[in-house]
Amino acid sequence: MKRQELIVIAMVLFFLTGAYCLGQEDPRNNALDVHLNPHDVMGYESCGKCHAAEIKVWKQTPHHGTFLTLHRKPEAQQIASRLGIQSFKSESECVKCHYTLQEKSTSSTEAISGISCESCHGAARDWLEVHNDYGGAGITRESESAQHRFERLQASINGGMRNPVNVYLLAQSCYRCHTVPSERLVNVGGHNVGSLDFELVAWSQGTVRHNFVRSNGQTNDPSSQERLRLMFVAGMVADLEFSLRATANATEKETFGINSAKRAARAAKRLVAAQTQLKLAVLDEILQIYQGVSLKLNNQTELLEAADAIHMRGVQFAATIEGSQLAAIDAYIPSPDRWK
Ligand code: HEC
Ligand code: HEC
Ligand code: HEC
Ligand code: HEC
Repeated sequence: MKRQELIVIAMVLFFLTGAYCLGQEDPRNNALDVHLNPHDVMGYESCGKCHAAEIKVWKQTPHHGTFLTLHRKPEAQQIASRLGIQSFKSESECVKCHYTLQEKSTSSTEAISGISCESCHGAARDWLEVHNDYGGAGITRESESAQHRFERLQASINGGMRNPVNVYLLAQSCYRCHTVPSERLVNVGGHNVGSLDFELVAWSQGTVRHNFVRSNGQTNDPSSQERLRLMFVAGMVADLEFSLRATANATEKETFGINSAKRAARAAKRLVAAQTQLKLAVLDEILQIYQGVSLKLNNQTELLEAADAIHMRGVQFAATIEGSQLAAIDAYIPSPDRWK
């Protein structure tokens, strides 16, 4: 393992244990919440100076498009009327997952776009200036010291960035929306129960892909096979974590509760299948946590504790395991013809 990567591991674990031990912030109100804090949202235009190519790709995805189309869809109007929602873009349930909310003054917020850069990478106020600072004039990506890179990545993650250096941080972004963890939205509103066929490799390497930085803007290639393996397993772990979070919100034996529990059981089953090939201690721990809880209604405390514990190990998995250790599951990874 490269020295830099070891450093990043230490950093991420430090960050996690630090945040938990200090008890400053409940992780559920911070890294794990679906909401971005509107006060910290800078908007995609603030990325444009350096990431024009990424913005161009994003503008062709439904993440961008939902801003223009959602309120016009009859299906959306039906959901809204069942829930008594007057306006999609102001303080409605829909804002969390279909739009990006920014604070305009201390008393008002505004939906400024669809699902944007910060929806996946974290609200940028505290990391925007930090994440690309190589440490002085004339220093480049190539000449930056390992120590400085460590400090830069640490500062960006501490500032709330879901930095792709740890794929779990990104996986959790996707699943927090794509599992739709709201009972009322599903059972009363009639919203779908989330993207049941969501899988991180297939859903991130197709139309959503914007891997320009790694080639200095020259190409937009899919991730390497080694990284895809990591993403594939990280995605399964995140599916389990967020299905448990959804199940934790279930109070009645209806569509939402039944599907959330089924989804959690399915995610665990897939992980068991992968683990028979991989035999990794960290996955064993995750499966043991899962086996210790029951997928029943009104079991919020126990299920959220399990989800938090799985979350820590998901981050640890992405930080400590290398793609080369995961070759045994290659046959399961969706091939390019299945990428969305
Ligand atoms: C002033 C230029 C600049 C701006 C503005 C900027 N970035 Fe970056 N960004 C960079 C550079 C340079 C890198 C490559 C950093 C590296 O080598 O690790 C980068 C890397 C990234 C990465 C990959 C993480 C990494 O360390 O490689 C993400 C994700 C990212 N930027 C998102 C954003 C988002 C979202 C915004 C707007 C909110 C934004 N950036 C604004 C220059 C910028
Ligand atoms: C927790 C996240 C979340 C919330 C909250 C949410 N949605 Fe969604 N919604 C999604 C996701 C994810 C999809 C995409 C599902 C898929 O296609 O796989 C979606 C899809 C939809 C679709 C189908 C889009 C299409 O192109 O067919 C409609 C309509 C919709 N949502 C309406 C609403 C309305 C109205 C609200 C507010 C009352 C709302 N949603 C709140 C996550 C959410
Ligand atoms: C803030 C919530 C949110 C986040 C975060 C999010 N998505 Fe989505 N995603 C949605 C919604 C909502 C839709 C459907 C939009 C619509 O059709 O109106 C969607 C649609 C998609 C689609 C298009 C699906 C189709 O059937 O064509 C893909 C692919 C996708 N998301 C991948 C991802 C990946 C990969 C991630 C994480 C890296 C992610 N999403 C993170 C909310 C989110
Ligand atoms: C739907 C979630 C999602 C959205 C929206 C999103 N990203 Fe990303 N971003 C990702 C994922 C996932 C990766 C890692 C992909 C991989 O490794 O194959 C990534 C990687 C990156 C990277 C590193 C690429 C590299 O070459 O290593 C940069 C830079 C970046 N994103 C910037 C942006 C900017 C700027 C925007 C807004 C225009 C944006 N992202 C919107 C999910 C998202």
